Amino acid sequence: MTRPETHRNGSRPKGHVLVTGGAGYIGCVLTELLLERGYRVTVLDRLFFPGTLAHLEGNRRLRVVRDDIRWVPASIMKRVDAVFDLAALSNDPAGDLDPKRTLEINHKGRARIARLAKRAGVSRYVLASSCSIYGFQEAVVDERSPIHPLTTYAEANGLAEKSNLALASERFTSTALRQATVYGLSKRMRFDLAINGMTLALFKEGLVKVMRDGTQWRPMVHIRDTSRAFVRVLESEPGKVSGEIFNVGSEDQNLQVLPLARRLSEALGIPFKEAWYGDPDHRSYRVSFRKIRERIGYATEVTPEDGAREIYAALKAGTVTDGPMTRTVEWYKSLLAYQGILDNVVMRHRVL
Ligand SMILES: NC(=O)c1ccc[n+]([C@@H]2O[C@H](COP(=O)([O-])OP(=O)(O)OC[C@H]3O[C@@H](n4cnc5c(N)ncnc54)[C@H](O)[C@@H]3O)[C@@H](O)[C@H]2O)c1
Repeated sequence: MTRPETHRNGSRPKGHVLVTGGAGYIGCVLTELLLERGYRVTVLDRLFFPGTLAHLEGNRRLRVVRDDIRWVPASIMKRVDAVFDLAALSNDPAGDLDPKRTLEINHKGRARIARLAKRAGVSRYVLASSCSIYGFQEAVVDERSPIHPLTTYAEANGLAEKSNLALASERFTSTALRQATVYGLSKRMRFDLAINGMTLALFKEGLVKVMRDGTQWRPMVHIRDTSRAFVRVLESEPGKVSGEIFNVGSEDQNLQVLPLARRLSEALGIPFKEAWYGDPDHRSYRVSFRKIRERIGYATEVTPEDGAREIYAALKAGTVTDGPMTRTVEWYKSLLAYQGILDNVVMRHRVL
């Protein structure tokens, strides 16, 4: 990848953002958005999903560092203005493959990144958390509701929120974003996410598989909309976001799974047929997004129908395929079986 821009006159672009997990599903879209907005970006990623930033090669404001959040040297924070911390084993089933390692990466690794950032004088830190932290809840939940993590992944998010928000101070703005379930196209495509998986099923089999009776509620958000939320927080006054948690999404995208499947079939002009979908899913939650809307004026722009149409068109055109990397848990299982790859790089550094 390219070297960072040099600034002979000492001037800097809009700001320098370190994106951990920046080569992942959300990370590579967020990285592109930051570059479009004039930021300089360093991606720190193990590159478990290779090739996802190839389209940005040659951009002089992008640097890619292949290392691990658990042991990357503190010098990674040099001249960084803000950190977006997305690196993680990124869903519930992947997190349950090895709970100890999930806590090591998703909690301790990200707590370490936040501490390194604060110590180095970085002024902003944003944690990528998840609405799945709410677990099963009858009432509509907001940021003050008790959390109910059902998996190690959700538990690690809760712990990382707690440790990293506690670092907030006058000079260190720390924020956590609880993202809804994301959908939409990315260079690291994920078909293990609800809308993406349903669209793939409609493309391949002409039917959607729905888990349980499909009455469970899940909030959804498009990948560009959730990426815009990170940038919106970064560009907000510190006093509005520091030490704060925000749910990311919109009330109109709190959706029940079966009606959602119907909507997507209709949007794609495919007669609706149902079977069952995915693994057993015990989560059901409806989320309030009032705080992010009212506090920093954030609103989503993209609908599930738009998301399904863009994925369907890409599948049809062959620009995205249902390859082995598109199912996170299966991909991590194969990496583990192949060479224990989750641990085998640069073991000389220990988690601080
Ligand atoms: N996709 C969603 O629906 C969703 C919803 C809510 C929250 N999130 C959170 O957003 C973040 C990004 O999710 P995603 O969907 O892009 O996941 P992803 O799996 O596509 O990306 C995660 C990235 O982190 C990297 N990584 C993993 N362990 C690492 C380590 N120890 N050191 C350095 N890099 C490491 C991987 O190589 C990968 O590129 C995660 O924290 C996830 O939990 C995602």
